[in-house]
Amino acid sequence: MNNFRFHAYTDIYFGKGQIINLPDILKQFGKRVLLVYGGGSIKKNGIYDKIYELLQDFEITELSGVEPNPRITTVRKGVELCKEKQIDVVLPVGGGSTIDCSKVIAGGAYYEGDPWDLVLDPKKIKKVLPIVTILTLAATGSEMNKNAVISNMDTNEKFGTSSHDFIPQASILDPEYLYTLPAIQTAAGTADIMSHVFENYFKTMTSAFIPDRFAEGILEACIKYCKVALEKPDDYEARANLMWASSMALNGLVGAGNGAAWTCHPIEHELSAYYDVTHGVGLAILTPRWMRYILSEDTVDRFVMYAENVWHLKPQEDKFLMANQAIDLTEKFFKECGIPMTLTEIGIDDSKFDIMAEKAVRYGGLERAYVPLDVQDVKEILRMCL
Ligand code: NZQ
Ligand code: ZN
Repeated sequence: MNNFRFHAYTDIYFGKGQIINLPDILKQFGKRVLLVYGGGSIKKNGIYDKIYELLQDFEITELSGVEPNPRITTVRKGVELCKEKQIDVVLPVGGGSTIDCSKVIAGGAYYEGDPWDLVLDPKKIKKVLPIVTILTLAATGSEMNKNAVISNMDTNEKFGTSSHDFIPQASILDPEYLYTLPAIQTAAGTADIMSHVFENYFKTMTSAFIPDRFAEGILEACIKYCKVALEKPDDYEARANLMWASSMALNGLVGAGNGAAWTCHPIEHELSAYYDVTHGVGLAILTPRWMRYILSEDTVDRFVMYAENVWHLKPQEDKFLMANQAIDLTEKFFKECGIPMTLTEIGIDDSKFDIMAEKAVRYGGLERAYVPLDVQDVKEILRMCL
């Protein structure tokens, strides 16, 4: 195993009714709270009213309307509010978009220039307001990690930025909050969790027994419980397992010791930058095609391990047959979860493949990926997705 640093300090309040602790969590940081949320799901499912009931002693300022694939324009509004109202703590309530937007707002509150600078250059993030999250979608792991992904639709750019200080101080994870998710968000969120694992599991380092078993456990949980949650949206065990899988897949546990660049994520970020697609849908479409493209004599043993330990396929003499069966099962799983599995189905043709492939390689560092890819490789993978 390679050297690594693992420091996941988010205080997790997991389970039914944990929101009751919100006042005590927030009061460590101050009274002036910026409540950040998206298009209104938290009003429909009652979380919004509960927050107001609990926070009667606090001064709440609101920023609503955070978009899926959050925009820098919304971050700028939030930064202005923080400065004007002298906010003490930022409280995102929602999915990854709301949390990511809040992280850059929290950094922007202490920055004099345009917050887009903090997306382009994480070294400019010097100080960050405390962040406490209430998660309503199992997907990104943002509730327990240092990353934020922000879009600039004027320039067709979607970039990740990162700071240790972006890690939330505390996160409330109540699986019951997932009951109201639209089926496609449950499925896309699961595809995202699985992709976070795949990006780390498929690696050249072979001596990582513990991270590999963590990874396989998370993948199995996703495969088992996504279908249950889709059939019965209020199945607590299913939601609880998906919610914890979200946090565990991208808090450093699975990636510990793996230095390679990711592959499907940088390519998906280009799809979102140009077509505003749902992150997990883009990943589900790309993943099996990427797997088929990189399957070779050098990688087949990892795919056999995946086939045996995640899909429980019986060992066979023909390693490639086994690897292909596991990839087919991956694609079938996403399809059965109701995810559209071609770019054509989500309205994307090949007209921007050149620019998207070029940017994915340039910004994603794909020459350092598990299997290094150049622009032609990425274009071929995109063509396989049509
Ligand atoms: O806006 P509202 O009305 O809340 O509706 C949201 C939104 O439309 C809805 N939703 C969320 N919880 C709900 C609910 N609807 C009903 N009931 C609930 N309980 O779901 C829709 C999607 O929400 P969003 O936050 O966009 O989804 P997700 O959590 O998948 O976040 C996606 C964003 O995170 C980035 C993605 O690129 C994308 O921008 N990522 C962030 C990462 C990180 N911070 O580490 C890593 C990821 O790889 C990813 O790139
Ligand atoms: Zn992701």
